[in-house]
Amino acid sequence: MLRENRVAVLHTFSQGERSAMPTRIVKKESLIPGQTSKLVLDAPHIAAKAKPGNFVILRICEKGERVPLTIADTDPHNGTITIVYLVLGKSTALLEQLREGDGILDVCGPLGRETHIEKKGTVICVGGGTGIAAMHHIAKGHHRAGNHVVAIIGARNKDLLLFEKELSSFCPEVLVSTDDGSAGVKGLVTDILKERLENDAAVKEVVAVGPVPMMEAVARTTKPFGVPTVVSLNSIMVDGIGMCGACRVTVGGETKFTCVDGPEFDGQLVDFKELRQRLAAFRNQEHISNEEHKCRCHNV
Ligand code: NAD
Ligand code: FES
Repeated sequence: MLRENRVAVLHTFSQGERSAMPTRIVKKESLIPGQTSKLVLDAPHIAAKAKPGNFVILRICEKGERVPLTIADTDPHNGTITIVYLVLGKSTALLEQLREGDGILDVCGPLGRETHIEKKGTVICVGGGTGIAAMHHIAKGHHRAGNHVVAIIGARNKDLLLFEKELSSFCPEVLVSTDDGSAGVKGLVTDILKERLENDAAVKEVVAVGPVPMMEAVARTTKPFGVPTVVSLNSIMVDGIGMCGACRVTVGGETKFTCVDGPEFDGQLVDFKELRQRLAAFRNQEHISNEEHKCRCHNV
């Protein structure tokens, strides 16, 4: 199975999705000033094939690291994909410096397995923080399949809420929580989720995208109700095609690679403790890189 996946992804590369030309930024929008931005990229080959759940890996310049980002939306007609990033380290700080019309050296994708979507009834899509943007594409897929999509989105305060308008354009229900109560319910996404599950026996599936503690808490919340729960993991990645092992996770006692076996897995089976440890493994180096590394291409 793994081997088949690898071949499929390599085949994708050979079809020209990794363009020899830089990928142009068609539109840039600051969603949360200085913290989160949205880029619409001219990537017709990726837009034609990308499905909900897929991601891309981009490299800003020759010396740059490879950054995995979930595709938040696609427009196959205009040949564009949308990505949303949180300015977290050196590479996303570099990305934040680019402007409309600038090019990103390479954008590879679509990568990963697409979300398993079928018509099943009510599906709750939970998004936390930046994860709301990635969840948007999955929610859209469920809507297109004819499911009743309930979106539950949460952020620390109202200024950090993303994609509420976009989700409201197709979700019959968008339920909001903020940690400080500045919008929607005061509390966490899991507070809304628990109440909904207690009062709605029709929920067929829950999908969660966001910070690891949130996805773990979502899985814990759904467990007593026996509702199938899918989480989209944001492991550290290098090649994105199943070769390096950087994105290793344990799911149901088995080793899986997030890039080719995921990024979505059964939330009840993921070893979240190990995932948290692996995500923190390079924190010191990331900090040093952010503070000290000077990119020769961009001189920052
Ligand atoms: P955050 O920590 O501010 O949390 C956002 C919301 O998630 C909170 O308001 C709350 O409602 C919920 N939440 C957080 N922790 C929770 C817990 N323990 N229990 C229940 N609910 C909880 O989020 P942020 O800082 O904006 O998030 C950024 C993080 O999301 C980064 O770590 C990034 O790597 C991750 N992310 C993940 C994906 C993915 O594919 N899984 C995609 C984008 C971003
Ligand atoms: Fe290398 Fe997944 S990123 S195996």
